[in-house]
Amino acid sequence: MKTSRVTIHTLREMKRRGERIAMLTCYDASFARLLDESHVDVLLVGDSLGMVIQGHDTTLPVTLDEMIYHCRAVARGAERAHVVGDMPFMSYQTSPEQALANAGRLVKEGGAHSVKLEGGAQHAALVARLVACGIPVMGHIGLTPQSFHQLGGFKIQGRENGAAERLLADARALEEAGAYAIVLEGIPAEIASEITAALSIPTIGIGAGAGCDGQVLVLYDLLGMNDSFKPRFVRTYEKLATRIRTAVDAYVADIRDGAFPSEAESFYLAPDKRAPRPAASVASLTAYVGGCAPESPMDDGGAAPPAQGDDGTPYGSPKKP
Ligand code: KIV
Repeated sequence: MKTSRVTIHTLREMKRRGERIAMLTCYDASFARLLDESHVDVLLVGDSLGMVIQGHDTTLPVTLDEMIYHCRAVARGAERAHVVGDMPFMSYQTSPEQALANAGRLVKEGGAHSVKLEGGAQHAALVARLVACGIPVMGHIGLTPQSFHQLGGFKIQGRENGAAERLLADARALEEAGAYAIVLEGIPAEIASEITAALSIPTIGIGAGAGCDGQVLVLYDLLGMNDSFKPRFVRTYEKLATRIRTAVDAYVADIRDGAFPSEAESFYLAPDKRAPRPAASVASLTAYVGGCAPESPMDDGGAAPPAQGDDGTPYGSPKKP
C-alpha cells in the first residue's frame, strides 16, 4: 500500500496538534529509503553536503547542479517524507529572477517538494514571489552557515542586545511572506521558544533547544560518521565511524588471508564445460565469468548455490522490490 506523502499542510497540522516534527538531512537514495521507513517527516537535502559529503570546510562551494543531483537521488528513495532542496550560496542572492529560475530547477529537475533559503526579512519579498509561483519555501535564521565569513565563523547567534527582537522580526517577516516553516539554527533556547510561540507555522530547531516544533540534525552527525566532531547540540545515536572501520578492516584482512571470496561467493562453470581448454579460450572464459558478457551478466550455470545477485542485480539498489 502506498503511504501518503507528508506535505507542508501535514506539517502545519502537526504544529496545531502539538506533534513534534522529525527532520534529518539526507543526500542519497539508500538513506532516503531507510529514513522514510523510520517515518522521518522531512528530508532536507542540505548544502551541508558540501562538508559531510564533499569534504569542504564550509557550505559555500556547493553548486546548484550538485544540489539538484542529490535532490534527485533523495526524491527517488523517499515515498513518504517531504523532500526539501536547499538553495546553495549565490543561487538566490543575485536577483529574484535568478532565484526563481534556480528554485524552479530544484523542484523540476531535482524533484524537491519545497526549497529552503537562509535569511530573514531581507528575503521576505523573494519568499513571497516563490510562494506566489507555487514553490513552498522553508526559511532559515540564526546561525546561517552561508554567512560564515560575515558571522566570523560558525557562532551561536542571538546573544547580543537587540538580537532576540531582530530574530523575532525576521521570523514574522518570513511567516507573513508565506514561508511554511522556519529552521532556527544555533540560537538560545529561550529565543527559539518565544519565536515558536509567536508563529503559526512550524519551527525546526538545530542547536536551538527543545521548545521548537521539530528538530533537525545532520544525518552523518547523528550516526557518528566523524568521531572527531562532537558539538554540544548533536546527539550521536551510533558510532558508525568505528563500526565502518571495524567492518572494512575485516574485509581487508579477509582479502589478505585469501578468506574472501569463499566458494559460496564464487561462480562456477557448468559441469559439462569444465574440461581443460586451450590457453586462449580459458582467457576469454575468464573475461566472461568476470561479467563482460552483457546478455547474461550473472548467470550461474555451475554448482555453487544460488545467492542474492544471481538475477543480475549488481548492487543493493535502494528501490523497493
Ligand atoms: O544544510 C543543512 O544541512 C542545513 C541544516 C543543518 C539545517 O541547513
